[in-house]
Amino acid sequence: KVQPLNAVADALNQTSDLDTLQGIDWDNFGFGLRPTDFMYVKKGDIAGNWQEGELVPYGNLEISPSAGVLNYGQGVFEGLKAYRTADDSILMFRPEENALRMVHGAERMSMPAPDVDTFINAVKQTVLANKRWVPPTGKGSLYIRPLLIGTGPILGLAPAPEYTFLVYVSPVGTYFKGGLSPIDLKVETYFHRAAPGGTGGVKTISNYAPVLKTQYTAKGKGYSDVVYLDAKENKYVEEVSSCNIFVVKDKVISTPELAGTILPGITRNSIIQLARSRGYEVNERPVSVDELLAADEVFCTGTAVVVNPVGSVTHGTKRVLYNHGVVGGVSQELYEALTSIQMGVSKDEFDWVVEL
Ligand code: COI
Repeated sequence: KVQPLNAVADALNQTSDLDTLQGIDWDNFGFGLRPTDFMYVKKGDIAGNWQEGELVPYGNLEISPSAGVLNYGQGVFEGLKAYRTADDSILMFRPEENALRMVHGAERMSMPAPDVDTFINAVKQTVLANKRWVPPTGKGSLYIRPLLIGTGPILGLAPAPEYTFLVYVSPVGTYFKGGLSPIDLKVETYFHRAAPGGTGGVKTISNYAPVLKTQYTAKGKGYSDVVYLDAKENKYVEEVSSCNIFVVKDKVISTPELAGTILPGITRNSIIQLARSRGYEVNERPVSVDELLAADEVFCTGTAVVVNPVGSVTHGTKRVLYNHGVVGGVSQELYEALTSIQMGVSKDEFDWVVEL
């Protein structure tokens, strides 16, 4: 079942990167799954005894119907990206942060996690084995999806006896339709994404299916996504289904503080540091929905969305348009500052980039 990596990789090397990626319209390439050559798989037990990991051809998993992940949602995932530079090297952005977030999330979901070195090594191996799928420089990235799931069988409610750590990749372009163009958001006032004491602050798979209903309804009405409010007072902005949110007022940047219900986004953290280094005042604090509506500029951040400007927010019958619907200056500046570091174009003064 498992093909020796070198034989397969040698065969693949006969296809140049350019051949693989030819015909893809990168300027209109979205965030769809495009299967690649290899994935990484490593199994372990509940005590954290991990077997040797291996690269296997990308394909389906065989899994028990009573696997913990299928029955009780025991799983966490990560998202990070690799970029091709102009001189054809491959860069990854802050993989250690993803590794640490997985360790933290796994602890919350009663799972053993791979240690930081194992995580980074697995991600590197997977990217290198699928190198021909890393898009041309400036034309998207290779999205990396590490996944940790309870694959051992269990019937009574308890942690699964066995775990699988997986890494797969897919070349991607922009997340929202229309590229770096402002999105239209709707404030959700009935459903909540997370409650205090819940799992909103970790990247568990079980945080994502519940947002599909509201997202689907909003999309049906022409919005790109929804903004969630806090579950206690229904008054403070939390995050969008797939990303964090920032507001700008009089050049001061604010974003909801991390108080357990909001995902600690790595792009969120990077943008805070970048903006401060460029002289902006950045506050992490409760941001009310009224402030969101009164902002000069609003943008979202995430690995998948990068930095995406918000063109309008609708709250009940009220609709606010920011920046006349065009990309705001702060969003544009921070987008460029971040992506030029990620793509190796500007100096990596924060030491965020890891070269493969
Ligand atoms: C990411 O930005 O990497 C995420 O995991 C969000 C996901 C819903 C696409």
